[in-house]
Amino acid sequence: MQIFRQSRRALQLQRHLLRYDFHRGHGFRYASLLHQEGYIGGKWVSALSGKTFAVTNPCNGKVIGHVPDMDEADTKTAIDSAYEAFQSWQRTTAKERSILLRKWYNLMEENKEDLALILTAEAGKPLAESRGEIGYGSSFIEWFAEEGRRIYGEVVPSPASSKEIILIREPIGVVSLITPWNFPNAMITRKAGAALASGCTCVIKPAEDTPLSALAIADLAEKAGLPPGVVNVVTASRSNTPAVGNVLCTSPKVAGVSFTGSSAVGKHLYRLCSSGIKKIGLELGGNAPFIVFDSADLNKAVDGFMISKFRNGGQTCISSNRIYAQSGIYEKFVAACKEAISKRLVMGDGLNKDVNVGPIINQSQIDKVEGIVNDSVKLGAEVLMGGKRHELGGLFYEPTILTNVSSEMPCVKEEIFGPVAAIQKFESEEEVLKKANACQHGLAGYFFSQDYSQVWRVARRLEVGMIGINDGLISAVEAAFGGIKESGIGREGSRHGVDDYTHIKYLCMGGIN
Ligand code: SIN
Repeated sequence: MQIFRQSRRALQLQRHLLRYDFHRGHGFRYASLLHQEGYIGGKWVSALSGKTFAVTNPCNGKVIGHVPDMDEADTKTAIDSAYEAFQSWQRTTAKERSILLRKWYNLMEENKEDLALILTAEAGKPLAESRGEIGYGSSFIEWFAEEGRRIYGEVVPSPASSKEIILIREPIGVVSLITPWNFPNAMITRKAGAALASGCTCVIKPAEDTPLSALAIADLAEKAGLPPGVVNVVTASRSNTPAVGNVLCTSPKVAGVSFTGSSAVGKHLYRLCSSGIKKIGLELGGNAPFIVFDSADLNKAVDGFMISKFRNGGQTCISSNRIYAQSGIYEKFVAACKEAISKRLVMGDGLNKDVNVGPIINQSQIDKVEGIVNDSVKLGAEVLMGGKRHELGGLFYEPTILTNVSSEMPCVKEEIFGPVAAIQKFESEEEVLKKANACQHGLAGYFFSQDYSQVWRVARRLEVGMIGINDGLISAVEAAFGGIKESGIGREGSRHGVDDYTHIKYLCMGGIN
């Protein structure tokens, strides 16, 4: 009966999405990627309570599926499974793990179109961008399949001839991976690739808005032959999420937590993790400065502005948020940005070929964007374009430029997380650096200058973890992603991405004659 109910629900979802996509000429090759169950201990399961919650398409508000509304009890079961699986997974060789990760990567590549369709359906991301995210996401599995074989120890010169000092790296154990809705695929693979390659097992808690991508990733993990319990996915509604997060951060069986999301939630999870001294990786909020100096190449600056501001409709942690243009280039830059927005951006259903800006993810986010704009206008900001909800209705907000902006306005103080650009004029390098660094966040920053000395001066002094210099698209698996100040702890991707999932064990080999 249980099996019948589950498969009938899955079938309904498949039919729904197939209809949704065939209308527009898309078709799934493997509808089996769509799951409406959680994934624990290698099994597709309902919540122990039997409760579910709806997943909706932010583009039109339609329900596209229901997934289990799991709670503490389900989360404990998932952690137990991961803990049991860790006992053998940690003893597999780096090469064995690499082979399985490579299979997982190959399956992601084979299924990238379906993964992109699922992502667009639940996140509203334009399909071309979803395809880009799937490529970006799978690249983390490929990278860590390779990188996992190079997690070396060290032999350190010893102070005594009777001893050898050896440092080995070991997996830390079970890790909780708590991931956001803005990159429902890549934020999972960036963490899980590093964790599994290191020899850890994991429990993934995807954002409540976008659980279907996580379940599709787990489906491919299963097909790749990852042993039961190595990857687990716990889905939970907004109301159960705090309780689930609490268990994920405090269970004695969990060794580490990696979280991508808001600074407020990150701080809360950090506090929770402190009781058990968990290892923690945090990739939190941004508020990136984007600076255009007089010497900048205007076209490059506008291209950089467009991609850093409107990638995922401004809903990325590294979106440019505080935009500064020097007085000599300000008028031209503002006019060129307005023209680029009018000519290049098409808002709508992400499945339509020409669309490159989708909706805001949910009601509370669009309310927040609207509030930031309205409150800034009340304080004197001028709306050069946009400044209101889009005529498409629902969760669509018009691409917006605000000028006459100052530091005390919410559009400068807060991370907007929407398609709103707040542009300020500045006079000197010193002034703009002071303003850019007067912020508790320090994730990414961007600046445009053709002056070689200025490039080095500003790169050294900007207080952020990552800088795009004459470039607005900095994300890459090879690079170390992460922030300073309240933007987080640790680095993801690159060869440093495994650090959060390994610890160093010191072996002192004594008694050598
Ligand atoms: C994020 O917004 O959190 C991640 C963006 C990226 O990896 O490019």
